[in-house]
Amino acid sequence: MADLTTNCGGIISPNPFWLASAPPANSGAQVQRAFEAGWGGAVWKTLGQPIQNVSSRFGGHTIGGARGAGFNNIELITDRPLEVNFREIYETKKRFPKHAVIVSLMVETEDEWRDIILRSIDAGADGLELNFGCPHGMCERGMGSAVGQEPRINERITAWAVKYSTVPVLVKLTPNVGDINPHGLAAKHGGAHGVSLINTIKSIIGVDIDRFVPEPRVGTQSSNGGYCGAAVKPIALHMTAQLARNPGFRLPISGIGGVCNWRDAVEFILLGATSVQVCTEVMLKGYRIVEDMIDGLSNYMDSHGFATIDQMVGKAVPAYSEWGDLDLNYETVAKIDATKCIGCQVCVVACHDGAHQCLHPQEGTRVPRVDESECVGCNLCKIVCPVPDCISMVTVDNGWAPATWNQHMVGAGKLRPKKGAH
Ligand SMILES: Cc1cc2nc3c(=O)[nH]c(=O)nc-3n(C[C@H](O)[C@H](O)[C@H](O)COP(=O)(O)O)c2cc1C
Ligand code: SF4
Ligand code: SF4
Repeated sequence: MADLTTNCGGIISPNPFWLASAPPANSGAQVQRAFEAGWGGAVWKTLGQPIQNVSSRFGGHTIGGARGAGFNNIELITDRPLEVNFREIYETKKRFPKHAVIVSLMVETEDEWRDIILRSIDAGADGLELNFGCPHGMCERGMGSAVGQEPRINERITAWAVKYSTVPVLVKLTPNVGDINPHGLAAKHGGAHGVSLINTIKSIIGVDIDRFVPEPRVGTQSSNGGYCGAAVKPIALHMTAQLARNPGFRLPISGIGGVCNWRDAVEFILLGATSVQVCTEVMLKGYRIVEDMIDGLSNYMDSHGFATIDQMVGKAVPAYSEWGDLDLNYETVAKIDATKCIGCQVCVVACHDGAHQCLHPQEGTRVPRVDESECVGCNLCKIVCPVPDCISMVTVDNGWAPATWNQHMVGAGKLRPKKGAH
């Protein structure tokens, strides 16, 4: 059986599943219940000068009937006294010495950073996570994403933390930037042992159209918040992979953003994450989701011949290239499995209105016909088809040698005739 033990920047946990710094990791009682359920690590709800929160503070985005598929909050960092948090961290570590407790921190001055780092380490922290990501409230006070968006400040505060810390330091990055690379590199230059990403995406989750107030409503007003949950996974995967494939970066990554099940976790690991963190899915479904995550990951690793997490990390990174390096002569077409098709015609509508008008109704059967000479292999019909594996995309052996746009631009590589462009 595969060994799920994880070493993320020197922070060791029995498996790669960590609670993200958020309400599920707000107190000792919660983190201990999470460890009992199987979580390998927890990033404690961010500590700093305890704040006063607003009521209400969460918003949900329902997508295709899935409630909370997108999630938004205007909550700040911990509202509990620091001494209580530190006592509970100590008790948690005492009960679970092999699990990873990472303490998330956010303060302002160098003295405050030194003080809170030393207290966290005294309490038993296995690692620190610097919260340079919160995009609401704290950034107005010069912290959170206000730091994460300024590489020079990120580097300076990271260097303070590394100077005062005797345990590994992860820097949690904000996705509210055009390019994640300078921000990851700033953390690296500051001496960080790894990065965590993503924190939440600046957002307005919706509007109360009767009261004319954005959500979540605080009396007669609202404010922009941080977006997370299943809906943000593609953005988080992209940012993870951007850093993982940067040859100048090469630091461990703790992947966060929309992880809901073992498959999501595998995707993050294949794109360069060493551990994964989960917030929204735990808020929606509870700690026990980790049981399936552990089983699923373990089975996946066994079936793919991975003995350790390290063997998996970044396996898909070499296959992430620039668009200009993709083979323009590679060709697929849609094939419909008539034995599975229920004749709903959803694919016909999609292809006619949203693609290349090459799926046609047929006389005497509800199974549509694919005009392969026109099909551009866009995937749309496969995406909308309600029956699993009914439509598959099949590689066409068209006889054309591979040729990329970048090769074509320097006179090398002949491009096959275009389809569907008349
Ligand atoms: C209600 C709420 C509170 C959060 N509080 C914090 C926090 O205190 N510190 C922090 O670094 N991130 C905080 N986050 C961000 C999460 O740790 C995580 O980065 C983000 O939610 C993306 O992961 P997810 O898609 O699994 O939710 C919070 C998120 C939510 C929803
Ligand atoms: S792959 Fe695209 S073009 Fe081809 S049949 Fe499906 S929707 Fe139409
Ligand atoms: S969407 Fe799928 S099930 Fe429906 S007609 Fe097309 S191939 Fe058949």
